[in-house]
Amino acid sequence: MDSQVVAMDESFDLLRDPYPLLAQKRRDSGVFRGSVMDWSKTPDSLKPEHLYAAVSFDAVNRVFRDSKVFNSKIYDSTIGLFIGPTILAMEGKPHRDHRNLVSSAFKHKSLLRWEPEIVRPVVNALIDDFIAAGEADLVRDFTFEFPTRVISKLLGLPEEDLPWFRQRAVELISYTVKYTRAFEASAALKDYFLAQIDQRRSNPTDDIIGDLVTAEIDGEKLSDEAIYSFLRLLLPAGLETTYRSSGNLLFLLLSHRDQFDALQADRELIAPAIEEGLRYETPLTTVQRYATEATELEGVHIPAGSVIDVCIGSANRDENRWERSEEFDIFRKRIPHITFAAGEHTCMGLHLARMETRVALECLFDRLTNITLVTDDDPHIWGQPFRSPKALPVTFDAVT
Ligand code: HEM
Repeated sequence: MDSQVVAMDESFDLLRDPYPLLAQKRRDSGVFRGSVMDWSKTPDSLKPEHLYAAVSFDAVNRVFRDSKVFNSKIYDSTIGLFIGPTILAMEGKPHRDHRNLVSSAFKHKSLLRWEPEIVRPVVNALIDDFIAAGEADLVRDFTFEFPTRVISKLLGLPEEDLPWFRQRAVELISYTVKYTRAFEASAALKDYFLAQIDQRRSNPTDDIIGDLVTAEIDGEKLSDEAIYSFLRLLLPAGLETTYRSSGNLLFLLLSHRDQFDALQADRELIAPAIEEGLRYETPLTTVQRYATEATELEGVHIPAGSVIDVCIGSANRDENRWERSEEFDIFRKRIPHITFAAGEHTCMGLHLARMETRVALECLFDRLTNITLVTDDDPHIWGQPFRSPKALPVTFDAVT
């Protein structure tokens, strides 16, 4: 790899706070040569020759919307190794056809039903478990657990399988840390999902797996491999992002007390607060694309074959789009962020993620008061490309 390609500047703590470096890069150009990812564990033979990073809103938006030039096939050699072939790594007609089939499992009608039947009961059951203690770690006891339980119920998995499913989900989403274990989890999930698919072929059920088994467009159905791969995709795509974004929002609110109090007094502020949390502390800060041909991006020449970091987190702090972009402010004028990507690969679960976060906040506010962050262990948001607090120790009183 070209040694001129500077990956990281060591004077910045990129895991704790990548934003000062990204702001510096944006001041120079919307695109820079280099990467914000950690390539230190990748063998030289697998490192791409050319690395670039898109950091301005316009650059990130263009990359997402021009999928002919900036291709998602790169996922075949990264996360695709663990989840299998999915829409994430497809482009053009195959992507559209496949996405139409799987999106039948995320109908608006289903979302309306999921809120009272699944999400609210799951969230309230978790609060039941810790409310009497007057203290909790909202990551361990709440933000991690509720999307896991919600997904497992949406899929229609048996209640008693939850501990096994939770463990395999954690192993799969930690694929960058322990990849052998992630491969084992991936294989175990395949067998498990195959059995679930099989049951539904003879006995149709009203859940996501049931919908995927029966989905049909112009006589085309999803293969077993397409279904279990998509189900594995839902773990990093739907579970990890949602638990991290709700942890980020709670941390931001608890460390901006005036905004927290305003929100508790006026529930109308929940929707803008969710959007500001998604903008300001994006749970998935960077995705990647592969340049299929030589092109120009914001005046920078990108050679064919380059790997481009698409820095969503940086785009969301672009000072040319937002005033005081480096401030968390739930009262700011709403301008759409790009947290759920744009173009063909726009997140399929964005309405579900927003609904889950809203219900989580509503239930917490209904049942707890005087929620206070215990700051002894310096809780903070951390990580790259996935970011969230590791713990959120709080004390509170139960609403009587
Ligand atoms: C705050 C929570 C979430 C965030 C920030 C988020 C973010 C994203 C982003 C950035 C992408 C595009 C990835 C790329 O093209 O490289 C994506 C795609 C996707 N998301 Fe989400 N997501 C969230 C929640 C969910 C949920 C709850 C689900 C479903 C249960 C979901 C399912 C998907 C799927 C299936 C795709 C692939 C779409 C395609 O390739 O056509 N996501 N998401």
